[in-house]
Order: sequence, then C-alpha cells, then structure tokens
Amino acid sequence: MHSFGYRANALLTFAVTILALLCTIGSLSDNLNTPSPSAQIEILNINWFQKQPHGNDEVSLTLNITADLQSLFTWNTKQLFIFVAAEYETPKNALNQVSLWDAIIPAKEFAKFSIHTSNKYRFIDQGHSLRGKEFNLTLHWHVMPKTGKMFANKIVMSGYHLPEDYR
Ligand SMILES: *[C@@H]1O[C@H](CO)[C@@H](O)[C@H](O)[C@H]1NC(C)=O
Ligand SMILES: *[C@@H]1O[C@H](CO)[C@@H](O)[C@H](O)[C@H]1NC(C)=O
Repeated sequence: MHSFGYRANALLTFAVTILALLCTIGSLSDNLNTPSPSAQIEILNINWFQKQPHGNDEVSLTLNITADLQSLFTWNTKQLFIFVAAEYETPKNALNQVSLWDAIIPAKEFAKFSIHTSNKYRFIDQGHSLRGKEFNLTLHWHVMPKTGKMFANKIVMSGYHLPEDYR
C-alpha cells in the first residue's frame, strides 16, 4: 500500500507535468498566431525647432499616433510595451534612433487607440543635422507573455521631413 504522502506527491508531480505541458503548448500556439497590427503617425505640428546654445538641434512635435495592436494579444499576453522612435541617418551614424513617446498597454481593450500628443522625450540630435532631415517614425512593440519568451517587432513609417529652417 502506498502511503497518503506518496500519493499526494505523485499527484503533485502529475499536476506540475501537465502545467509545464500546457505552458509549452501555450507558447507554441502563440508562435502560430500571426498578428496583423497596424499604425499611422501623423505630424500635426512642429511646435518649435531650435539650435541649442551648445550646438545640438532640438525639435518639438505634436503627433497623432493611431494604432490597432489588438491582434498582438492572445490569452498568453501579459502586456505590451510600445515606443515611437524617430530614426534617421547622419554622416556620422547610419542609424540614429531617438525615442519620442512610450506606453504600456495592459490589456487588449486598450490596444486600439488614437492619441494626440507632443513628444514625451526630447528629440535632440547629437550634432546639428536636423534641418531638412528626412526621417522615419517607427512604432516598436515588445510583447511580454505570461509564459515563454518575450518578442519584439515594429512598423516603420517613412517619408517625414523636418523644416529647412529653425523656427
Ligand atoms: C488622427 O489620425 C486618425 C487616423 O488617421 C484620424 O482618424 C484622427 O481624426 C486624427 N486625429 C487628429 C487630431 O488629427
Ligand atoms: C527608413 O525607412 C525606409 C523604408 O522602409 C528604409 O529604406 C530606410 O533605411 C529607413 N531609414 C532609417 C534611417 O532607418
């Protein structure tokens, strides 16, 4: 006869095994889900555009950020971390990336939104190359799962320009 303790232990082991299996299936089925997120970012206004006393260019923008990231949510999604970055090339660096705004999306119901905001973080070039600069606005997301690996991706929107003159 097995003791009660032995059986309880066997039951627990079985439960843990099933749980591990479910987690594996969960992360796998998550990988099979092909999300179709969308985003548009419009520059509503250049609030000001200046050269700082020590020489770096800084610009303040008002953005209209519209996105539908609902398809990134599955039962295994804890939350999304998203950020909007300005990305541009300069003679010094092939890629300059400046984060302008970020947010945490805690649930699917908040994943479809339109927000009218000025840049939350300063858009400063480490130099003075922003006049007339062509740049991309990129919406990046990090999906934080309840179980399994975090993954990240982005939508690149191109064709934005800064003015030729400070204002
Ligand atoms: C922001 O963009 C969305 C989608 O393009 C549009 O429906 C909305 O009217 C815009 N809002 C403003 C304040 O321009
Ligand atoms: C901006 O986007 C275009 C088109 O996707 C891409 O070819 C270019 O390399 C991007 N520029 C930067 C600096 O990432």
